Formats: sequence, C-alpha cells, structure tokens
Amino acid sequence: MLALGVLVSGNGTNLQAVLDAIQRRELDAEVRMVISNQPDAKALARAESAGVPTCSVRHGEFASREEFDHELVRRLQAAGAEWVLLAGFMRVLTPVFLGAFRDRIVNIHPALLPAFPGVRAQAQALAYGVKVAGCTVHFVDEGVDAGPVIAQRAVDVLADDGVESLSARILEAEHQLVVEALSWIAQGRVELVQGSDGSRRVARVRAS
Ligand code: GRF
Repeated sequence: MLALGVLVSGNGTNLQAVLDAIQRRELDAEVRMVISNQPDAKALARAESAGVPTCSVRHGEFASREEFDHELVRRLQAAGAEWVLLAGFMRVLTPVFLGAFRDRIVNIHPALLPAFPGVRAQAQALAYGVKVAGCTVHFVDEGVDAGPVIAQRAVDVLADDGVESLSARILEAEHQLVVEALSWIAQGRVELVQGSDGSRRVARVRAS
C-alpha cells in the first residue's frame, strides 16, 4: 500500500482522480495528507470530502524557501506519508524537500517532456505548432520538469484547438495516467536505473 502525501495549489482534479481510484480499489494507496500553499484551493475541499486530512501552509509566511520546505516535510512525515505526489503544486521545491523524499516524489506535467517544461506547457505546445501534445508523469529531481519519466500519454492537437480545449483534453489524459503510474509504483514495478548512454537515470517499468 502506497502511503501518499499530495501537494496542491489549485483545482485538484488530479487529486480527485487519485481519490476516486483508491475508493474504487483500482489503486492500492492511501492519501495520508493533502497540503496546499493556497488556503482557498478547491483541492482542499475535495480532500475533506473524501475524509483525508488537510492543511494549508502559506509560503509567504516563511523567511525562505528552505524553511517552507522544512514545514512541508515535517507535516508529511508526521502524517506518515512515504511518497509525495505533486498535483498542480505551483512551487519549486528545494534540496531540503528533495532530500527528505529522495526518489519518492512524482509530478504530473501537461506536456510530452522533455518538450515544453515549465509553466503554460499547453500554450507552449500550441504556439510551437506541434500536432501531438500530451502529458507526463515523472520523478522529481533538482531540474524543472526534468526527472526520470515514468509514463506518458499522447493527445492529438486538433486544427481548431485553443489553449482551453487542448488543456481540457490533456487534463483528462492526466487523470488516467497519474492513476496508472501510481499503481505501477504501488505494485513495486518502477525502478530507477542508469540510462543506456550513462548520462542520466531513467525509470524502468517492469511488466506485471
Ligand atoms: C495539471 O495540468 C497538471 O499537469 C499541472 O497542474 C495542473 C493541475 O490540475 N501540474 P488539477 O489541480 O489537478 O486540476
């Protein structure tokens, strides 16, 4: 069973997909704590409806990013979280956080990495004119949207797509992908290994 902490900043539809999959017993996990840096995030209400403990930790109340991260780590560890899902969490984590949950932090990004890292990835993809967009679930390391890829799903870009319509279709794919990737982790099927050219670590997913 995967003991999860989830960090959020906004709507929390990916969190909802995870909570729903747990309830349907499609995902062998328990969300031990949901933390938002935005006190009014809808994600907190979603967690509360599912009976999951929540708290808001406002980044503005801390003197440094590191102190903010220490507080996040303290609360997650106190709740018994062993893995952390970043589900629309809009803060960059420092080595304080990365070190506390090394190789056990997973992020969802709305693009096919390594294309279009950073913010407004769907708008970047549209502006570039790619014909296939998508989403990525990946491990978090020191880089921005740069850690080992666990799973990806492609979404066609349609001729009349705007940022809103494309983002909505990518988000639907995210909801499926994040559950799939977490279930692989829960089943112990994901391992980090050296990549074929030795330059970086990659995630290997074993067949079930
Ligand atoms: C998603 O597009 C995710 O890829 C990105 O932030 C958004 C969060 O959406 N990291 P939600 O809060 O899960 O609805």
